[in-house]
Amino acid sequence: TPLAGPDFTKCSRGTNLNTSQPLDVDCCPPVATAIIDYKLPPVKKMRFRPAAHLATDEYIAKYDKAVELMKALPADDPRNFMQQANVHCAYCNLTYEQVGDSDLKIQIHNSWHFYPWHRWYLYFYERILGKLIDDPTFGLPFWNWDNPKGMAMPAMFVKPSSSLFDARRNQNHLPPAATDLAYSGTQSVDTTQIVSNNLTVMYNEMVRNVQTLEDFYGARYNTGTQPDPGPGTVERGSHAALHVWVGEATSSGEDMGNFYSCGREPMFFSHHTNVDRLWTIWRDLRGSKTKDFVDSDWLDASYLFYDENAQLVRVKVSDTLDNKKMGYDFQKVDTPWLKNRP
Ligand code: C2O
Repeated sequence: TPLAGPDFTKCSRGTNLNTSQPLDVDCCPPVATAIIDYKLPPVKKMRFRPAAHLATDEYIAKYDKAVELMKALPADDPRNFMQQANVHCAYCNLTYEQVGDSDLKIQIHNSWHFYPWHRWYLYFYERILGKLIDDPTFGLPFWNWDNPKGMAMPAMFVKPSSSLFDARRNQNHLPPAATDLAYSGTQSVDTTQIVSNNLTVMYNEMVRNVQTLEDFYGARYNTGTQPDPGPGTVERGSHAALHVWVGEATSSGEDMGNFYSCGREPMFFSHHTNVDRLWTIWRDLRGSKTKDFVDSDWLDASYLFYDENAQLVRVKVSDTLDNKKMGYDFQKVDTPWLKNRP
């Protein structure tokens, strides 16, 4: 049986997965009386997701304003910034029971839910921001960390007066430091070496180490499956390394380096917009080879999110397979790692 969107009334205090201690915050969402089956709206105008390092001042001002407005929403509005951050916590930190197996919890990471769940998460986050600034074409910026020109934290996030700023970051990794996609606690001092390693990491995760669909997507995870069956290449590698690289080294990784708090980091959404873009690139690279699982355990799996009108909706994995049908597309930039065949 596919995983199904949780019953919000059965949400409990979760676990800090870095310390294995109970969380000291409650990240359960507001309970709603009505749930609507979500239908992708017809695409009138495509939303445009720019590379963060190439974004214009005008775009940055717009995004900054949108997040400011999101932070200013009432604390109990499900579209409020902290409520949105808590969505990540609730789906990751073992707060929800699986529908149909109350002994097991939901954790959408380290499994084949990683790409589709985050795609929906960004989708509604983006639509909420667009609505707040009355711009139906607004798209989230992607942190282009797979390209040497985009490997440092994007400048828009490091200005302390901006709504896109977060003080809880590793202070040794502020720009111009290049992110290390194989980071495991110590940053190499040789930037040329880091950049070249990063390109190899990307080639391996996107091409060389992917034989089966599970290799890329992660392991099957259905109702009745224990959490954490196993991540795919990008999730385990560059994606996880970047989380740890951004988060504080002096605490349990807050904000970016811990599941419960990473949604409080505005940069998180640009990190994941790039992961989302890599999913699209990977599907394009497959050519005529199978791109998606065809089992209903994946396609019919569902999640619940509040949409831009604060309506609780049920969404399915099968609606995530084509970002253009979801109404957004990415700025085209080159992918130098593709030529980086070792
Ligand atoms: Cu939901 Cu990058 O983690």
